Amino acid sequence: MIEKQLWHPVAQAQDVTNTPLAVQLLGQAIVLWRNEDDAVQAFTDRCPHRGARLSMGRVENGRLECPYHGWQFASGGRCVKVPALPEFTPPPTQCVKSFEVQQAYGLVWVRLEAGEHPLPAFAAEADEHLRKVNCGPYDVAASAPRIIENFLDMSHFGFVHEGWLGSRDATAIAPYAVEATATGVLATGCKAVQPQSNLHSTQAAEVEYSYEVTAPYTALLTKIPEEGSSRQGWRESIGLFICPVTPETSRVWFRLAVADFESSDAQLQSFQHTIFVQDQPVLESQLPKALPLDPRAEMHSAADRMSSAYRRFLKAQGITFGVC
Ligand code: FES
Ligand code: CO
Repeated sequence: MIEKQLWHPVAQAQDVTNTPLAVQLLGQAIVLWRNEDDAVQAFTDRCPHRGARLSMGRVENGRLECPYHGWQFASGGRCVKVPALPEFTPPPTQCVKSFEVQQAYGLVWVRLEAGEHPLPAFAAEADEHLRKVNCGPYDVAASAPRIIENFLDMSHFGFVHEGWLGSRDATAIAPYAVEATATGVLATGCKAVQPQSNLHSTQAAEVEYSYEVTAPYTALLTKIPEEGSSRQGWRESIGLFICPVTPETSRVWFRLAVADFESSDAQLQSFQHTIFVQDQPVLESQLPKALPLDPRAEMHSAADRMSSAYRRFLKAQGITFGVC
């Protein structure tokens, strides 16, 4: 399964402490914890001794201790202590499976198998004129690809986000361009008239976005600055980072990269929250929950060319998790 070789977000970085945290990725139960050097460790959440959940244990002297018989596992997964046999030194083969971990975009990323793919790109991260704020996690009863596709879709704005990102009086989608990139798909020239396109909008405005898929379960929205606007030149962006928990459930984060340094985190998160809770019930209603990759399985319009390109990309990548 190629998905196992990709990096996936599994937790907000600040939520991983020296209290073990249980998460799930691609159906795999994982325990996250921090060692004495503050490095995040990710192990299978199953003790190799008698199968207890390691996330119910605790961190002792920089080792993860199983809640059942107190076996202790060091960073990297090796068992270093069997309390019932104080004189015994466990062999290197006595270990729990450990996964590779990275931190980026305020999140902890894990991959289940070694691979060549880098972390999904989020260009706005490096722009110091933009402030970064995370929203989430949202636990959503929908597959990751359905959630990505919803994020790429402007033709639902007038219905799902009426009065915010769209209106029923202006539902037409002007033609936009779609191209394949080295790591995904890019749509440019996506225009909409939005009654309330962000926290500070006081009147409807025409906005232009680009949408980019930079990995199978990552999508970015970038706002193309208006000529002459006070924020000219700042390409505000929203990253959508999804953990594919099971084929039909997902954990979702948004990372905002915005030029607004005045509003509180809570105000910025609240706007994003308002929009996403409008999407969530519709997303959770969609059937099948897995995204169909056979073009004949659902009907399409020319306004859907980005989602069609996304489906072709998933197919070309050999993605099988969350699709059908
Ligand atoms: Fe973990 Fe026995 S089940 S130490
Ligand atoms: Co929406």
